[in-house]
Amino acid sequence: MPPRIRKAVFPVAGLGTRFLPATKTVPKEMLPIIDRPLIQYAVDEAIEAGCDTLVFITNRYKHAVADYFDKAYELEQKLERSGKLEQLELIRNVLPPGVRAVFVTQAEALGLGHAVLCAKDVIGNEPFAVLLPDDVIWNRGPGALKQMADAAEATGASVIAVQDVPRSQTASYGIVATDGFAARQGRIRAIVEKPAPEVAPSNLAVVGRYVLNPGIFELLEKTTPGAGGEIQLTDAIATLLERETVNAYRFQGTRFDCGTHLGLIEATIRYALDHEKLSDAARQLMQNALNELGVEDLA
Ligand code: UTP
Repeated sequence: MPPRIRKAVFPVAGLGTRFLPATKTVPKEMLPIIDRPLIQYAVDEAIEAGCDTLVFITNRYKHAVADYFDKAYELEQKLERSGKLEQLELIRNVLPPGVRAVFVTQAEALGLGHAVLCAKDVIGNEPFAVLLPDDVIWNRGPGALKQMADAAEATGASVIAVQDVPRSQTASYGIVATDGFAARQGRIRAIVEKPAPEVAPSNLAVVGRYVLNPGIFELLEKTTPGAGGEIQLTDAIATLLERETVNAYRFQGTRFDCGTHLGLIEATIRYALDHEKLSDAARQLMQNALNELGVEDLA
């Protein structure tokens, strides 16, 4: 049986320019949905999928990400002394026991492909996951990465998350062409980074979750800058699928692009409306806002 993924890579060395000025000092991955930063949603998804080694590709400005996963002794002591055990539990569970965090610096933001390549020595010769934390995937059942890891374990093939997007949006995504789908999976025949709608091979867009075989590293080493002058993961995957099977996986769940303003707003609304304690009040707040602005009822 092919091995189960144990290691997950989180490329968080991008500049996050779409969220300036906030991202001048706060890394994009630390922006919250309610009370948890985006990175925590991705980390929880990786742990649920069975990963116990989390590899963060950071840059020298992103101390906040490393600090967040570090132990906060003073805070823990204070919470313990004042009997705030619920809050204590929350900060202790940022990384559960048995899960380790490794930080690798990407000296220059040369692209997502280059960021993944920075993890090579930590990953070694085994399949691994890549999660882009600004893609938040909400699902009541198993997380997207768990669904994909199960599929990868069954076949041994690399698996890439995809979703259908309007054709007008293909230039914002990596787009795949596949053989027919059996259940949620179809073999990828071609992958192109950000094609214009007229030349896009389909409207199936790559979303920020990957399970990759380690052969990708050798290909990334040979990949030259592509779209936007960056070393693109998509270009290395295009070569990988000439050598081995790479499957597209239509995950169950709703993906929010929290790298954009509207995506972060949408995710916040979704998590608030689905929140155990906040949902009724959140619904009322939204209704009040619409009333005050003179907008008709939500229904
Ligand atoms: P994005 O394309 O969203 O870029 O990167 P960005 O810099 O984060 O954000 P904007 O576009 O300027 O607002 C996709 C993912 O790849 C990582 C980013 O951190 C993000 O998770 N990335 C990108 C790197 O780690 N290194 C790079 O060189 C480029």
